[in-house]
Order: sequence, then C-alpha cells, then structure tokens
Amino acid sequence: MTDHSAALPVNGDRLIGRLKALGQIGALPEGGVCRLALTPEDGAGRDLVVGWMKEQGLAVAIDPIGNIFATRKGTQDGPSVMIGSHVDTVATGGIYDGNLGVLAGLEVLKALDDAGIATVRPVTVAAFTNEEGARFQPDMLGSLVHVGGLPLQEALDTISIDGTRLGDDLADIGYDGDAPLGGIQAAAYLEYHIEQGPVLEAEGVEIGVVEGVQGISWTEITLSGRASHAGATPMRLRRDAGLAAARISHGVADIARSIGGDMVGTVGSLRLRPNLVNVVAEMAQLTVDLRHPQEKVLAEAEARLAALVARVAEEEHVSFTRRRLARFEPVTFDRDLVSRVERTAKSLGLTTRRMFSGAGHDAQMLARVCPAAMVFVPSIAGLSHNIAEYTAPDDIANGLAVLGTLALELAGRANTPA
Ligand code: GLV
Ligand code: MN
Ligand code: MN
Repeated sequence: MTDHSAALPVNGDRLIGRLKALGQIGALPEGGVCRLALTPEDGAGRDLVVGWMKEQGLAVAIDPIGNIFATRKGTQDGPSVMIGSHVDTVATGGIYDGNLGVLAGLEVLKALDDAGIATVRPVTVAAFTNEEGARFQPDMLGSLVHVGGLPLQEALDTISIDGTRLGDDLADIGYDGDAPLGGIQAAAYLEYHIEQGPVLEAEGVEIGVVEGVQGISWTEITLSGRASHAGATPMRLRRDAGLAAARISHGVADIARSIGGDMVGTVGSLRLRPNLVNVVAEMAQLTVDLRHPQEKVLAEAEARLAALVARVAEEEHVSFTRRRLARFEPVTFDRDLVSRVERTAKSLGLTTRRMFSGAGHDAQMLARVCPAAMVFVPSIAGLSHNIAEYTAPDDIANGLAVLGTLALELAGRANTPA
C-alpha cells in the first residue's frame, strides 16, 4: 500500500555538482553565467541536461516550443507529478535561478532509483523554454504555450532583442521537437527555486512557502524626436528623445515610490540613437517593468505610466509608440498544495515562512491547469539576476528534501523496498 510517511533520501552534493557543471556552460569570466534563451549556449546547456536525463533512463520528450520533459514511469499511467523550472538565464545570471529546480527534479528521480522506490503516478521533470524573457518576450513563454495561453505560431514568430525569430533559433539549436504540445499532463506541479530576494535570509527562515506570484506588466516605449547639433541647438528648440526617456525613467520610480508598499517599477533597458556625445538623440527605446501582488494596484500604476508618457512626450515635443511585452495578473497557488509544502517542511524539522514571489515563475502558468506550488530557499544578500547569486549548500539540501519528500507523497509509493 502507499506509504506517505518517509522522507526521500536525496543527495544535495550530487545536485550541487551538477549545478556547477551546468554553470560552466556560458560561464562569464568574472563569475556567473550567460545562457540567454535559444542561443548556442542555451543549446549546449540543454544538451548537457538532456544527456543526464537519458543517462538516468528517463523518457525524454521535446515539444514544438522546445520545452523538455523527462518522465519516470509510475505503476499506473495517467497524469504526472511534474517538477519543473527553466535552464535559460539572464545575461548576467547566477547558476541557481531556474537551473536548481530542474536539476533538483532529476536528483529526486535519481534518489527514487537509488532507493528502489516505485511510484504509483509517473514523475516528470520539465525544463521550460525562455522563462527569463530577457531575449524574447513575454517571460515564461514556454510554459505559457504549454498551458494553451499563447498560440504556438505566435510564439514561434516572436522576434528577439537581436532581431532573430524564435522558431529559427529553436531549430538552429535542435530543440524544435515534435512531441504533442501539452501532451504530458500534470496532476500537480512543484517548482523549487531560490527566493531571489532578501526576506528568508534576513529572518533566518529555512524554507519559503510560496502562496502566489505578483502581477507583471512589461511595456516597451519608443520615443521619436529629432537629431540635432548638441552645441548649436538651443534648449527651447530641441526634440530630445533621450531627455524624454530620462524623465520617464525618473517618473517610473516616482510612481512606484508614491504608491509605496510592494509596488516596484524598473527601467532595465534604454537604447538611444545615434547614441553619440554631440548629437541630440533622435530615438530612445526603453522598457518598463511594473509589478504588484494586487491587480488593482498594478492597473493603477499602468494608468499612471500611460499619463506620464503622454505628458512628457507633449512637453518634450516627441512622438511615442507603446508595445506590450508581457502582462500577467497576480496568481494565487492551490491552498491545499501550499499547505502540504508547509507541512512537509515542518515534518522535516525546517522553519517556514509564507510569502509571495516577487519574480515570475513557470509555476504561475502551470497553476492554470493543475494545482501548483513552490518551495523557496534563501538567496544570500537577496541577490539574483546577478553573477554574485548564491545559495548555501545546506539550504539547497533543505529545499531538495522538501521537494523530494512531497513529490514522493504526491506520486504515491507503490512498493516497500527492503
Ligand atoms: C522572470 O523570471 C522575471 O521575474 O523577470
Ligand atoms: Mn527563475
Ligand atoms: Mn530569472
């Protein structure tokens, strides 16, 4: 009969060894890693992970958007317990973001093998395409397509910040698979991730029990002015797209600060043309990232941004266009599964804290089709999307134990090994 009691004997050191090996691909000279989605480096990282999946005897399926699924059979067919995350990174990333969740899933399957445990349900490890959204927007693109939230063709036609087409890049790295989209169904989805913020470390708590993910709004704004001589053009006669962009950047911070609380606003990308010391910029393109846990507040920030852009454009005599890059409402995870994460951590003697995620995650897409939940562990100094990203080995082992124990409980133990 199914036994839900025992913790799964997972091996944190083996997981950390694989994290470091994967972190060698696209490693930056000063530390950290760059494996932007669907670049040759992402392809090489995927190849290493798929190699490990095959070494473990798992059935690997790649779908047409490049999502990778590796399944360990259960004694019964039917929906899997899915453990997932991503292996793409931002350009100045660490080795933990996303990669931890995928490799921890593989470690759970290895531990099941080593312990001779059969499960009733299949267990699938998923690595979703372009979670970061740094090179192609929106973020969480692969998991969004997987759950039917974005048509495949639209996703394949997405253009990168380098001007390439997603479908072409996918084919170039050999991950334009033919497994049916959404073919592997999940009975439940678990994602293990570093917190990427400072709360757990500051409070000395071992496990973050994630209740949901805040809403995300990404907009690209393009401002068109007039190039003119920096020495010869009086201030009153300028149509300076660079100045308008600077005022909007400042205004985004003002909006976030005046709303206060959890509201955050970021201009993370700003490009000027011609970008020369003695030419008034004729064009500026910037991105605005707004996030808040409540939809109403996020919508208010968006309205204030729209008013700001219109006002600045008028005052600086520039024209503008706006393009929505991503918009996801806040997501609340399944209450029962969240409680099970908490109970599992407590049963392992770990301290817990409930929290909302500041970062976006594939779990917020899977939550559309099955119960989903996340396990967080502390990020040192709260740093992520930074080459200094670090999580201590003990914390990695703690989260892995929670993930493995709960995954086994959800999958159901089908035998009692000697
Ligand atoms: C994506 O991972 C994001 O939160 O920016
Ligand atoms: Mn991530
Ligand atoms: Mn990230």
